[in-house]
Amino acid sequence: MCGIIGIIGKAPVTPLLIDALKRLEYRGYDSAGVATLINGHIDRRRAEGKLVNLEARLKVEPLPGTIGIGHTRWATHGKPSERNAHPIATDRVAIVHNGIIENFQELKDELVAEGRRFDTDTDTEAVAQLLTSYLERQMSPEAAMGKAMERLRGAFALVAMFSGRHDILMGARRGSSLAVGHGNGEMYVGTDALALAPFTSRVTYLEDDDWVVLNSTGCTVYQGTTTVERPEKKSGLSGALIGKGNHQHFMLKEIYEQPAVVGDTLQSYLDPATRSVRTPSLPLDWTKVSRVTMTACGTAFYACMVAKYWFEKLARMPVEIEVASEFRYREPPLPEGGVCIAVSQSGETIDTLEALRYAKSQKQILLSVVNVPESAIARLSHAVLPTLAGPEIGVASTKAFTTQLIVLLNTAIAAGRARGTLSREQEEKLALAMIELPARINETLNMEDDYRRIAESTLAAARDVLYLGRGSSFPVALEGALKLKELSYIHAEGYAGGEMKHGPIALIDDAVPVVVVAPSDAIFDKIASNFEQVRARGGKLVLLSDAQGVARLGAKAETSIAVPDIDPVVAPILYTVAVQLLAYYTALAKGTDIDQPRNLAKSVTVE
Ligand code: M6R
Repeated sequence: MCGIIGIIGKAPVTPLLIDALKRLEYRGYDSAGVATLINGHIDRRRAEGKLVNLEARLKVEPLPGTIGIGHTRWATHGKPSERNAHPIATDRVAIVHNGIIENFQELKDELVAEGRRFDTDTDTEAVAQLLTSYLERQMSPEAAMGKAMERLRGAFALVAMFSGRHDILMGARRGSSLAVGHGNGEMYVGTDALALAPFTSRVTYLEDDDWVVLNSTGCTVYQGTTTVERPEKKSGLSGALIGKGNHQHFMLKEIYEQPAVVGDTLQSYLDPATRSVRTPSLPLDWTKVSRVTMTACGTAFYACMVAKYWFEKLARMPVEIEVASEFRYREPPLPEGGVCIAVSQSGETIDTLEALRYAKSQKQILLSVVNVPESAIARLSHAVLPTLAGPEIGVASTKAFTTQLIVLLNTAIAAGRARGTLSREQEEKLALAMIELPARINETLNMEDDYRRIAESTLAAARDVLYLGRGSSFPVALEGALKLKELSYIHAEGYAGGEMKHGPIALIDDAVPVVVVAPSDAIFDKIASNFEQVRARGGKLVLLSDAQGVARLGAKAETSIAVPDIDPVVAPILYTVAVQLLAYYTALAKGTDIDQPRNLAKSVTVE
């Protein structure tokens, strides 16, 4: 969602603002803008659509100035037009904002009653007008921001620049992320460490309800009217880590990074020498945990679905999985002694964060599986189980998902060992299967031409595609369908194979490809029956199985691929790579915007 950057510099800042906005493009946006101070006056350039439009505008109308703010906007209130693009400004202040001001209408009514005129349809303008109203009452910018924080409701991050004040920028956060970067005589503020990465590695992460005043030499952080200390940390991000390398898309690069990042994540959760999982130090005793509740959104939710199979099978524990946006409003009672695990790449997804807050109110032990250790979800948790995927820039989750699965499988094994439900032999067998995974993923990637061929010949021309799977392959089918629809805009659905005959089978005809995710496992015979049911109705079958499964069913499929052999417990991780490749090459054949699919955002910080 929206990306924010602000710079107090020594030289003209517009090129730096644009560079930072490019690094924030991954979050998803539909308009962009920058503002600087020129001789004390706010001047801005904004454009609908991608950053190239803004750059074209800046070529014709350059924007000098050594202090400035920039924004990529993912529209929530008001359509994505130049008029609604940020920075939103009055003659006194310019604002860039991520999130939602929930009481904007109430504020707007009051401000309109004062005689103020609103020029945009955004909730953000309520902040700009509120600050302006305070400034016109002779408040200092600091006093105005402190007072505004008392009035604003919602989850947001914002940065403000004030006319006549070349020396300061201000930021504020509640719910959404915001970080300050420390330079030498220059200061930065932005959505995340990625935005700040090439400028500085010295970063201060703001906490909820913090507001901050930056000048060229440092910053002061406030909560209410009191100053608070926030540590300066070293960010490990470098420009190299966030580049596309030789790949055409970030998504392809990230798919190809999976052998390495799965290996890195394994290293920290598994001891290859002893073939046993490393027991992370957690504030709980698995033998006393009454129930595990897992919550997440989108792809991360499918990681929870797979993990439910693992926890139930390996640790014999009751597990509930909850779509975060539903869970938090249903307000179910959670048992004493329960654990809640939130799973999130960004660690900022508002629904997941709020679901975790709800679990906290129910006195659960909070664990999180996140890719961003400084994120809000991580900070709310009693313990963090990090994925070591590195920055994921493509909007579609790929390496984040497979590393989430690694963390969750190792945690389920640790729980099983603690509860005495998993023998040493079983643990060793699973450890060996995981140790093999990076090599098996590599072999899968080496077969990319086969996936490309199926994508081009069978999927790209389809209007609808179905994905079937059973057991822990069912979430992989759901993930395959989600990847395909978000990247290629082809309608796709995932079903549990056994559910086909209860309705979806009515859709089958020779125009609907059906991708069957079917490793040879204990329920292969069952998915084989579902396969035959589709075949009997003329469905176009694409079989993803291992050599044995392809030998059995391949001749009956329109097309099939033998995925490398792997232990069935670990298979969902490997088969995920297969469905990622199908989705990627289908989108490539259709020419869609793979790294930034329409309407999607990387980090979903609004409800
Ligand atoms: O950052 P999170 O893992 O919390 O994000 C959750 C979902 O928004 C995310 O997985 C989304 O479904 C992706 N676009 C899937 O590719």
